Amino acid sequence: MKCPGIWKMLMAAVCVALLSSLQAQDLPGQVSIILLGATGDLARKYLWQGLFHLYLEEVGKGHHFRFHGTALTSTEQGQEVIAKVLESLSCPRDMAPGHCAELKAQFQQLSEYRQLKTPKDYLALSKDIEAQVEHEGLREIGRIFYLSVPPFAYVDIARNINSSCRPGPGAWLRVVLEKPFGHDLHSAQQLAAELGSFFREEEMYRVDHYLGKQVVAQILPFRDQNRAALDGLWNRHHVERVEVVMKETLDAEGRTSFYEEYGVIRDVLQNHLTEVLTLVAMELPVNISSPEAVLQHKLQAFPVLRGLQRHSAVLGQYQAYSGQVRRELQKPDSFHSLTPTFAGILVHIDNLRWEGVPFILMSGKVLDERVSYVRILFKNQAFCVQSEKHWVAAQSRCLPRQIIFHIGHGELGSPAVLVSRNLFRPALPSAGWKEVEGRPGLRLFGLPLSDYYAYSPVREQDAYSQLISHIFHCRKDSFVTTENLLASWAFWTPLLDSLAHEVPRLYPGGAENGQLLDFELSGGHLSFSQPLPEQLVPGPDSAPLPSDFQVLRAKYRESPLISAWPEELIARLAGDIEAAAVRAVRRFGEFHLALSGGSSPVALFQQLATGHYSFPWAHTHLWLVDERCVPLWDPESNFQGLQTHLLQHVRVPHYNVHPMPVHRRQRLCAEEDQGTQAYAEEISALVTNSSFDLVLLGMGADGHTASLFPQSPTGLDGEQLVVLTTSPSSPHRRMSLSLPLINRARKVAVLVMGRMKREIAMLVSRVGHEPKKWPISGVLPDSGQLVWYMDYDAFLG
Ligand code: BG6
Repeated sequence: MKCPGIWKMLMAAVCVALLSSLQAQDLPGQVSIILLGATGDLARKYLWQGLFHLYLEEVGKGHHFRFHGTALTSTEQGQEVIAKVLESLSCPRDMAPGHCAELKAQFQQLSEYRQLKTPKDYLALSKDIEAQVEHEGLREIGRIFYLSVPPFAYVDIARNINSSCRPGPGAWLRVVLEKPFGHDLHSAQQLAAELGSFFREEEMYRVDHYLGKQVVAQILPFRDQNRAALDGLWNRHHVERVEVVMKETLDAEGRTSFYEEYGVIRDVLQNHLTEVLTLVAMELPVNISSPEAVLQHKLQAFPVLRGLQRHSAVLGQYQAYSGQVRRELQKPDSFHSLTPTFAGILVHIDNLRWEGVPFILMSGKVLDERVSYVRILFKNQAFCVQSEKHWVAAQSRCLPRQIIFHIGHGELGSPAVLVSRNLFRPALPSAGWKEVEGRPGLRLFGLPLSDYYAYSPVREQDAYSQLISHIFHCRKDSFVTTENLLASWAFWTPLLDSLAHEVPRLYPGGAENGQLLDFELSGGHLSFSQPLPEQLVPGPDSAPLPSDFQVLRAKYRESPLISAWPEELIARLAGDIEAAAVRAVRRFGEFHLALSGGSSPVALFQQLATGHYSFPWAHTHLWLVDERCVPLWDPESNFQGLQTHLLQHVRVPHYNVHPMPVHRRQRLCAEEDQGTQAYAEEISALVTNSSFDLVLLGMGADGHTASLFPQSPTGLDGEQLVVLTTSPSSPHRRMSLSLPLINRARKVAVLVMGRMKREIAMLVSRVGHEPKKWPISGVLPDSGQLVWYMDYDAFLG
């Protein structure tokens, strides 16, 4: 059985008729399944049972099977382990015991253990399969290699399979891989490239066991079968928020060597929860039984995920974790881990369907219960006049309206799909699903179970059994493609980088957590609802908490310096800008603010966008301090950053927004197009005395500011208000306000953040007025005020 692509399917349809007569003479086909790591934990717990399940499903449908358990363990030891595992296999409850025993005996007979270590072992395995197939008068139709091994072993194994264990012509190869698939985007790319040199994409099956969970696998069919009801509801107008949750009670003891390197985000959010998120958020293909269409639509869900910021996350760590790491990894007593074991993440999706709807992803170890689910909570715009006792579950618009894909565990104890009765009566596949029996007293997500239409699978099946069956049947949409994997890492890696030094909030674990980990959404950010009770969980000695510090006031280059932890610093700067705006509008009726681009001001833009309701935006003019010579819609454009992080969230009249004219007559920064003169004229016309109320600058690690660079005289003095300059880094061409224009401002704020700025901050603190070497040293407002805003990383190192 080959997995057909679309064209192959068409071809196959044509060929089937022609070949069917010939096929009659064909020998019966055999599939060999080689389980690597067959004595390991996962194999013992799930994979052998999954293989047995496949055998039960497929035996009698014309295929022959052979199962080869392999590992590095010696043959004798391995055989012993495997014999025990095979003995413990179970049949579905509804199978007659006699029949089960018979099939189990057959399965045991068809399964063997062998050591698989050297290239020679692989070659011998291949030869043995060929000989056995021939001996039994069969035809080999395919080989499945299931790699239940640590990822460092992948490449060697892949090389061996490719060079000496591929089946002969006409038979297919499928290689199944278990996570982790890399540690970040770069390592995932590397691993993908290495594997890609041995296998074709269609030969690889990357497992995410959440995709094998019955309820997760039901999300798309549910959306498909209920299109009529959901078409109008599955969008930002009706959905209040979406929660994707995996709570665990277990800790990481026994696997800290893995966990310490990965942490909760890499362990379960980057994969399991992201997969589930995309199934909810993606556009539904017309034909959901086409794996190609499903995969393609799923992939399209990634580019519209809004980039995550540090404030998109709250992190925690159960209190005993560091001790476990110290014990298991022989770390000194002073060692404190920063690895998060709990995370709440806020995801936004920038498309018309989901814009503005918060998707909350949450997972943690040592929480009060074990449960996973996706909850889609709908908005409630109704106002019910009659008292609650008259509300009827199926009719009242005032009861919460939600759909829950209950993946497993929790109080319900089983997988289920729940739909509030006041939403609609869902259609579910009639076969395989049944209505959940009433359980008086059971309340789920604020409602009694009786207020839901609730369905659960007739026969619960573990995820691995499902996935093994899908591998056999080429259901590629139940697996993670290379593109999908890399898109997910591309989404998560910047956040992981920015959180690398974040101190997670410690929590005692279990019910004792109380409300300590509750978090809330405000202004597009997540934050813990409760302040940190320090007596309960003191922070690690080596990493002081922001609350340990006060905002520091001092002088830097003879001008006022405000220094604090980043969060506080940004809040302070945003407050100062708002105060300046209010003052200017009160006095002159308008406020002229010139903003820099780059990464440092992003947090400021977000703060202004979300936390400053009294900001006089309607009377504010926004100017650019500098711009890259790229089209304004280019993600590299400073204007684009301003647009994404500020403008689209506030109400600045569009005629008050003044992007730099870098793109004129379909050319970028051509001298002849006189963009600099045009901007200078616009400034002169609108800004009294060409004196901005506030100019926000940054400081580059080389001492540049705006787009005025060292060793490049342009814009450092003279009459020109706006200049074209050249940056040492790409894109090289820039447009910038000149130093004389900047120095005409009433107030100049210089924002300097991050450890990378430490050295230049030290240096610039000592140098005099040398703008040619360090343009930032030339910033000295003629009659205005200069204030430095530096975070502790930049200021204290
Ligand atoms: C695994 C993670 O992928 O998923 C574990 O590595 C986690 O840390 C597990 O416990 C959860 O899976 P399930 O099926 O128990 O929800």
